Amino acid sequence: MTQRTVLRLGDPRLRQVSRPVERFGTPELHALITDLRDTMAACAGAGLAAPQIAVPLRVVIFGITVNPRYPEAPPIPETVLINPEITPIDRDRDSGWEGCLSVPGLRGQVSRWRRILYRGFDAEGHPIERSVDGFHARVVQHECDHLDGVLFPDRLVDTRSLGFTEELEASGLLPVAGPLAPAKPGHTLDRMRQQLERHSALEDLGPLFGPKAQGQAPGRDPS
Ligand code: NI
Repeated sequence: MTQRTVLRLGDPRLRQVSRPVERFGTPELHALITDLRDTMAACAGAGLAAPQIAVPLRVVIFGITVNPRYPEAPPIPETVLINPEITPIDRDRDSGWEGCLSVPGLRGQVSRWRRILYRGFDAEGHPIERSVDGFHARVVQHECDHLDGVLFPDRLVDTRSLGFTEELEASGLLPVAGPLAPAKPGHTLDRMRQQLERHSALEDLGPLFGPKAQGQAPGRDPS
């Protein structure tokens, strides 16, 4: 088990454009993937990109089974995706909460394509192609952004949505995560909207929770 240090926002290595993998199936590539997997597991992340552990290659991993950080998250098969390409299937977008292991302690509302086709390769160079939506699509978009030096704060729909996870949970905007404090069943987007409407200072955030946001499960952060 090799848990690597996850770079944090401000480290210029997170802002590099990573280069494609040219040789598949090598011991070096397998070692990188093992480190990514071990580090993601140790941090209870849903995904991790190679540049987050200071390796500027176009390699991401993601996956969710049972994860205390995402108590409501649907399962996503553990996937190693190399040299990925993302194509939106239509023009629909969703706003949803994101966090990042490189931006610890913070969450914010980010707009992403709702449905995407993604393509890439596994560690042996076999092609991968999937059409996905919802949280799966969000995680892939978030992770692949890292390969171009983009982090979720760059994509906030409204900078006022950014906050510390603890404060957002305390205010009821985020469902409380973790095995000792399971998400409250009533914490749907409708509930969040009602709470926002009661907070006059936050009323301007209304568009975040408009029709486009329907069906978006709150409180999950891709990595
Ligand atoms: Ni991230």
